[in-house]
Amino acid sequence: MHVRSVQDSPLSVRVGALIVPLFTDGVLDGATEVADKALGGAVSDIVAAGEHKGKLGEITLVHAKDHPFRRLIVVGLGEREKFEPLNIGRAVGAAVRAFGRKGIKEFAVALPPIAKGHESACASFAAEGAISSTFDLGSYQKDTEKHNVAESLTILGEGFDTKALDAGIVRGHALGTAINLARRLANTPANDMTPTQLGNEAIAVGKATGIQVDVHDAAWAEKHKMGSFLSVAQGSVQPPAFIVMTYKGDPSSNELLALVGKGITFDTGGISIKPAAGMEEMKMDMSGAAGVVATMHAIGTLKPKINVVAIAPATENMPDGKSTKPGDIVRAMNGTTIEVINTDAEGRLVLCDALTYAQTLGATKIIDCATLTGACVIALGHAASAAMTNNDEFLNAFIAATKHTGERYWHMPLFDDYTQAMKSDIADLKNTGGRAAGTLTAGAFLKTFVEKTPWIHLDIAGTAYVEKETAWLSKGAQGVPVRALVAYAEALAANGHVG
Ligand code: BES
Ligand code: MN
Ligand code: ZN
Repeated sequence: MHVRSVQDSPLSVRVGALIVPLFTDGVLDGATEVADKALGGAVSDIVAAGEHKGKLGEITLVHAKDHPFRRLIVVGLGEREKFEPLNIGRAVGAAVRAFGRKGIKEFAVALPPIAKGHESACASFAAEGAISSTFDLGSYQKDTEKHNVAESLTILGEGFDTKALDAGIVRGHALGTAINLARRLANTPANDMTPTQLGNEAIAVGKATGIQVDVHDAAWAEKHKMGSFLSVAQGSVQPPAFIVMTYKGDPSSNELLALVGKGITFDTGGISIKPAAGMEEMKMDMSGAAGVVATMHAIGTLKPKINVVAIAPATENMPDGKSTKPGDIVRAMNGTTIEVINTDAEGRLVLCDALTYAQTLGATKIIDCATLTGACVIALGHAASAAMTNNDEFLNAFIAATKHTGERYWHMPLFDDYTQAMKSDIADLKNTGGRAAGTLTAGAFLKTFVEKTPWIHLDIAGTAYVEKETAWLSKGAQGVPVRALVAYAEALAANGHVG
């Protein structure tokens, strides 16, 4: 999608539809008031009739065939007192999602007067919201009728700081594109999104952005003694792929941010096989990997002054004659022996070797993200991801930097009790710690593989994908944690390394 700003007045912009905001107080201001007057009070009438309450994402279409803007889309921005730039993205997303599917190609949006001083953030969210709202869930369907045909968004700059608008547009475009990439990678079924294909997608990101990409095979992992990662891969006919993407935005610095993403392209549970109900969702068990690959697309486009490496251990988890069996003991890259109690606790087995590898590369900060535990969905539902750390200052900085992205992270504890629960009688560790605090025992397991490097673990099991669409986003993969990872990378580049 093409996004730009112009100095045209709302009444002169030539598009398929002009989007104007409405707050729940029903007070018309800015371009909404101007358009209302031009249409003989049509918006006031709609508000007076109670047909539009200004709820966030609520939309009403008014035809205006005698005007250059052709149609007016009144879109709810929620409560004026609770205004934040994020809501612009959701409102624009709702309008473009609804009417892009009805054939409108060109949209313009007028920001409310309250957006003054927040131009960059509002434009970024508008671009991100418009782009992510057009994501196509039906790319496998013959019937193309439902496809979103939106092509462009014009942000009206009259009375606003256009330099800031344009900077926001560049950022929002890169972010929206990355979010949709992450969603496509995750939504694509596992017969198409194999570890090899995920590696190819990473290579394509490298080609598009100039980032160095290495996709390592099982022999390479063997040489690096990644016995834990390989123990998950050994039951699959699909070869594993250990994906490494290296971005050097600050070559003179030794600081290196590592982003590690769980890349289980399908999780059957292995020999500890999962029940049939809902198992198809496990095609999205590589949402963490999709998130870090897509984040590198945004980083390679925006080029912040930091160094970042993305690491995605990718494999299927399958039952087979060659599969790991419950009770087997495997040896991780750092020498730790792990008793595999449950082959369905495979995410931690691939992540631990990736964490060790990140440290051998000299990572000075590590963030891993994974659809790691069903327990996380029980604890936080779909409202927030769980965040755990060995360094509170680091996590506080991450949460502060990502607060206004639309993604939520909730600090959960890693008490020593949880680490104790992961001790095995016959190996150094076991891979499950019982039913209690399943998200935190998983986090504690990973923590033992991080020596001193500040580290954050994000469990995105409840947020990476959802069963219910919103007005602005289709269901399925949501692109979590791309918004947060990009925001944190930008904060690092702007403020230096904290934590
Ligand atoms: N990929 C799953 C976790 C998951 C479950 C994510 C549901 C999203 C929705 C993970 O590999 C898994 O199976 N975890 C087990 C761990 C248990 C065996 C200790 C779980 O959560 O049941
Ligand atoms: Mn599993
Ligand atoms: Zn899994």
